[in-house]
Amino acid sequence: MKISKNIETLLNEQYHMEMSSGLQYMAMASYFLTQELNGFANFFVAQAQEEYFHAQKHFEYIHTVDGRISPLAINQARAEFESPLHVFELSLEYECEVSKSICRLTQTAMQEQDYATHTFLQWFIKEQIEEESLFQLMVRKLKLIGKDPAALFFMDDELSKRKFVKSGDEA
Ligand code: FEO
Repeated sequence: MKISKNIETLLNEQYHMEMSSGLQYMAMASYFLTQELNGFANFFVAQAQEEYFHAQKHFEYIHTVDGRISPLAINQARAEFESPLHVFELSLEYECEVSKSICRLTQTAMQEQDYATHTFLQWFIKEQIEEESLFQLMVRKLKLIGKDPAALFFMDDELSKRKFVKSGDEA
C-alpha cells in the first residue's frame, strides 16, 4: 500500500510535532528539577517518553506504507515558566493543538479515501482524549492548591509515581 504525497507530508508534520512535544516536555521536566519538584519532573519525563513513542508510531507507519521521513524543523522548546500551573496550562494548550492537527489529518485521509491512514489515526484520536483530560485535571488540581506549599509537595509526591507505560495495540 502506498500513501499519497499529501498524506506523507502531513504524517511527517505530525511526526515532527510529536518529537517537538517530547523536547518541550523535557524542558518542563528540567524547569521542575530547578524548583526542587522532582515528582513533577518525573511526570514530564514520562510524558516526553510518551511523545517519543507517538513519534515512533508515525515513523513505523510511514515506512509501512512506503513513505519516508523527511527532515523538518523541530520547534524551539520554551524554557521559562511562571509557576507549575503555568506549565500545565501551556501543556494543555499544546495538547489541544496536537488534537486539532490529528483531526485535520484524519479529515484529509477521509477526503482522499485513504482508509488505511484513517484507521491508523483512530488510536491517536483516542489518545488525545486521554491526554487533554489528564492535563485538564492537573490544571484544576493546581488551581485548587493555589499557594499552599504542603498541598503542592503532596502532589509532587503523587507525581513521582508516574511511569511511562505503552498503551493500546502496540504491545
Ligand atoms: Fe502525542 Fe501529547 O500528543
